[in-house]
Amino acid sequence: MSTRIELLKRIQDGRFHSGTELGAQLRISRAAVCKHVATLCAAGLEIHRVSGRGYRLATPVVPLDRAAIVTRLKARGLDLDDRLELLESVDSTNRHLLARAAELPVGSVCLAEAQPAGRGRRGRAWVTTPYHNLIMSFAWRFAAGPAAVTGFSLAAGLACAQALEEYGVTGAGLKWPNDVLWRDRKLAGLLIEVQGEAAGPSFIVVGIGINVCIAPRDATRIDQPWVDLHTILDAPVDRNRLAALVIARLHEVCRVFGERGFAPLRAEWERRHVYHGRVVRLIDGAREQSGMVEGVDTDGALVVCNRDGVRRAVHSGEISLRAAP
Ligand code: BTN
Repeated sequence: MSTRIELLKRIQDGRFHSGTELGAQLRISRAAVCKHVATLCAAGLEIHRVSGRGYRLATPVVPLDRAAIVTRLKARGLDLDDRLELLESVDSTNRHLLARAAELPVGSVCLAEAQPAGRGRRGRAWVTTPYHNLIMSFAWRFAAGPAAVTGFSLAAGLACAQALEEYGVTGAGLKWPNDVLWRDRKLAGLLIEVQGEAAGPSFIVVGIGINVCIAPRDATRIDQPWVDLHTILDAPVDRNRLAALVIARLHEVCRVFGERGFAPLRAEWERRHVYHGRVVRLIDGAREQSGMVEGVDTDGALVVCNRDGVRRAVHSGEISLRAAP
């Protein structure tokens, strides 16, 4: 564990800790403490310094702990010790895994505390508060080519919703293809990136960002309604437990999807779809259509029926979906 993370652990309670006390605990000088604090602040953490009192974290946080996540996964029968990476900062966890697609074993995971160039869907940036949220990517390989794995995008969203439920979040729903919403506000986003030849195999990276605690200064940069777990649960969140749950659920849906495709996961997905049976607007650039959501098919396409009774299966995740007024 780096000295910086050791320092973060010492101040994680949100109380004041003097430079002298921290220096003695970490066996470094006060000047070195000051330098590590500056690096943490540069990475996006909000740490207050008050002369005579010391340093205080604006919002308490428990740092991610690789060993704690590995232990939780082992308890569920998954040994990922050789393929779980925790980085303090990386431009994008998805990019990081995709760059090593050829050599990565299935089930490889990259978690990061900070992600300055996080990628969202439709070319957007993914805004998050460093050290306070869940930022992770998960790699898998399917025998089929990229076209056959479109339904996987929905399966991955289901895994995320199931993990949140197991954590104790009630009322998390899915919005096609894979946004996780809570009372119509975005709680988590997924970005699936695929590499591979048409005939297969395909290498898939599932990028997941869960809003655990968004600081007010970052909130101003988010351009859609959002919510975080702090607000929903009104309690500190154990990100290590949540990370392990997400990874375990992803493993499970990958296994099922690899053997039988999306079909066995479809009912569970539809049960959580916030627009099921509702009239929606489908927006594709300047084009807009409306219709009632009847469900999703076994490929993961959204089945919509318009006013004239014409049924259509929508495949592209680039189409955006809104409730009709
Ligand atoms: C969306 O726009 O809803 C998708 C957001 C996906 C964000 C996650 S955070 C971890 C992973 N790495 C990235 O660069 N993006 C994804």
